Formats: sequence, C-alpha cells, structure tokens
Amino acid sequence: MAAARKFFVGGNWKMNGNRSSIEGIIANLNKSEVSIETDVIVAPPAVYLDYTKQTIQSGIKVAAQNCYKESKGAFTGETSPAMIKDIGLEWVILGHSERRHVFGETDQLIGEKVGHALSEGLQVIACVGELLSDREAGNTNEVVFKQVKAISENVKDWSNVVIAYEPVWAIGTGKVASPEQAQEVHNDLRVWLSDQVSVDVAQSTRIIYGGSVNGANCKALAKQPDIDGFLVGGASLKPEFVDIINARQ
Ligand code: 13P
Repeated sequence: MAAARKFFVGGNWKMNGNRSSIEGIIANLNKSEVSIETDVIVAPPAVYLDYTKQTIQSGIKVAAQNCYKESKGAFTGETSPAMIKDIGLEWVILGHSERRHVFGETDQLIGEKVGHALSEGLQVIACVGELLSDREAGNTNEVVFKQVKAISENVKDWSNVVIAYEPVWAIGTGKVASPEQAQEVHNDLRVWLSDQVSVDVAQSTRIIYGGSVNGANCKALAKQPDIDGFLVGGASLKPEFVDIINARQ
C-alpha cells in the first residue's frame, strides 16, 4: 500500500539563516536533481518566504512555518493563510513541537488553525509527537492520538493534509528514533485513522517522520512501510538535504 503514497520530504529551516546563507541553500537545491517521485517542500522563516518562492526551482514548494486562525485583523505579529496564499504558497506547517512547547500552543488552537488554513485552501503539514516523559511513562499513543484527534476534528478533506510524527526527544538532539520505533507509531497512527476516520484516509494519508533525520540515517527509516517521508530540521540547511530527498531512490 505504501507505494500509493508519494514520498514527501520537507525542510523546516526554523528560525535559521540570513539572506546570504539562504541564497546558498537555494543555489545548491536549484542545481540538484530532485526526483519527480518525491514531493519536496522547504519552510523558511516568514521574512524570507517571498524571496525563497521567487528564487527556488519550481519543483520545490515553499511552506510557511506557522499561521494564525483568522484571515486578517488586529493580531500583531501574526500571518494569515490568506497572506500565505497571496504570495503564491500552498503549504503551511502547523502544530510543530516548538509551537506547542516554546509558545504554548494547545491542541485546541492547533486544531482551529488547521481548520482555518484548510478552509482558505492551504495544504497542511500537521505535527504531533510525545515528550520523552510521555514515552517513558508508556503514554506515547495516548498523547499522539489526542493531538491527532484535535487536528482530525478540523479536517474535511484529508488529501490536503500530511501528518508529521516528530517525537520531541528526537528533535534537534541527534537522538533519532530507530526505524522500528518510528514505524510502530506511524502504524499506530494509521490504525487510528482507519478506526476514527476511514480505511481510505488511513491508506492514502502521508505520515512523515521528523527528529534528527540526516543523510546517514534516512535510508533505513525510508524503508519502513508506514514512513512516507521526512520533516527535516538541522540537516535541511545542509547539502545532505538532497540525500534525504532521494532516500527512497
Ligand atoms: P531536527 O531534524 O533538527 O531534529 O528537527 C526536526 C524538526 O523539528 C523538523 O520540523
């Protein structure tokens, strides 16, 4: 069944880079062979979205790292899905663990953001993932199911959603989940989708893995039947991002 799901690799640049380094990353991506078998997305900081969109090869899409749940108004510092669409972008990342844990975003707010972004016509990379303490307490599934439920309640058309499973203990730590650990949660999420949404949605929705993915560990992860791609942080700023894009080749 995995063959029916197109491989998806996102590069989340987080709050990194400047005009000069981003120019370098884009130049490298523009001269690289990017397989048409893979959906590739990069998510630069908001102030560089337009520049990235203008200069990156058309085979690579650009995503915002966040957006708000309203289309306009007195929300200082926020960006709306309508604005993201207005500069020609199609994707937004929502519910990233740093939004949840550094900025205190709740399941409820993330659900509302997902609903609004989808209703405005954006496609969403919706992130879930447990803390180390959740995993050690044996609560991984309870936590990720609660997060995915809050997202799911706001999704009508799952073809516009990619789920990113990013265990918080693996993000930026160099401690990648083993292929078996990641596969187990991806499979459990797929079973959840099958039970709570539909068998069709469970089979067709991409579930990608994030957390210390690099050029060296990506191939073993990509072999797992329920891992449909990656959301990459640190390594997406480096030339090895191209190896990750081509992990399935
Ligand atoms: P790292 O790849 O740096 O661990 O970050 C993962 C991540 O948070 C991607 O969204």
